[in-house]
Amino acid sequence: MKIDVFTLFPEWFGWFSSQRHVANALACGSALEYVNPREHTPLGAGQVDDTPFGGGAGMVLRVDVLDSALRAHYGVDPVELRERRRVIALAPSGRPLDDALVDELAAEAEMTLLCGRYEGFDERILEHFASDVVSIGRYVLSGGELAAMVLCDAVLRKLPGALGDERSAHEESFSAALDGDPEYPHYTRPAEYRGWRVPDVLLSGHHQRIAAWRRERSRERGAAAEPPRRGA
Ligand SMILES: C[S@@+](CC[C@H](N)C(=O)[O-])C[C@H]1O[C@@H](n2cnc3c(N)ncnc32)[C@H](O)[C@@H]1O
Repeated sequence: MKIDVFTLFPEWFGWFSSQRHVANALACGSALEYVNPREHTPLGAGQVDDTPFGGGAGMVLRVDVLDSALRAHYGVDPVELRERRRVIALAPSGRPLDDALVDELAAEAEMTLLCGRYEGFDERILEHFASDVVSIGRYVLSGGELAAMVLCDAVLRKLPGALGDERSAHEESFSAALDGDPEYPHYTRPAEYRGWRVPDVLLSGHHQRIAAWRRERSRERGAAAEPPRRGA
C-alpha cells in the first residue's frame, strides 16, 4: 500500500511513522509519502489559501494550488487522477470512516489523502479532484492531519505484517468475523481483584463455551442503542 498525504504540516507525521505497527507496515513494503502544497503553489509568498467569496470568517484552501500540487506530483490532470486512484479529501461532512470502508481502502494498492486546514477546501477540490470525501466523526478538528493519521492507522494495521499477531486484526470490533458487532470484553490476571471476579467461563478452558460466551457479549453490545444525534 502506497499512501501519499498532501498536507501543509508534513512534520506532524514524523511521530506517527515511527509507531511500531506503522513502522512494521512500512518495513513490509508499504510507503507513506508527504507532499506540501505550499511547495507547489503558483502564487507568491507561498500562498495556499484565500478569503471566502460571500464573506465570513477564515481562509479557504485554493483549488488552483491543489491542482498545481497534484499535477506536479503525479504528472497528470487531477481530474483524470481520481479515475486511476482513490483521492480522499478529509472533511467533517464526508462519508463516515467505519470498518467496512477501512477494509475497502486496505484492498487498494495506493491512495492519496488531502488534508484540509483553516475553513477547509474550496468546494471545487471536492467536486473535481476527490474520488471520496471521508470524515472520521461528527466533530471538527483544526486540520486533516489527525484525520489522515486515523485513516492510515486503521488501514495499515489491516495489512499483513503490521501487527505482531495476525489474529489480532481478525476478530475485532465491527469486523466481519463478529458480524459487525463490537468486540466482547477481555480480562487478564489477576482472576479476582478487589472482589471483581473474571467470568467463570473464561477460566473453564472450554473453548466452545468461551466462544459462545464471547459471541453473546458481542451481540449484546451491538444491540445497544446508537448515541442520539444532537437535538434529537
Ligand atoms: C477546521 S476544519 C474545517 C471545518 C469546516 N469549516 C466545517 O465546518 O465543516 C479544517 C480541516 O480539518 C479537517 N477535518 C476537521 N474535522 C474533520 C473530521 N471530523 N473528519 C475529517 N477531517 C476533518 C478537514 O480536512 C478540514 O478541511
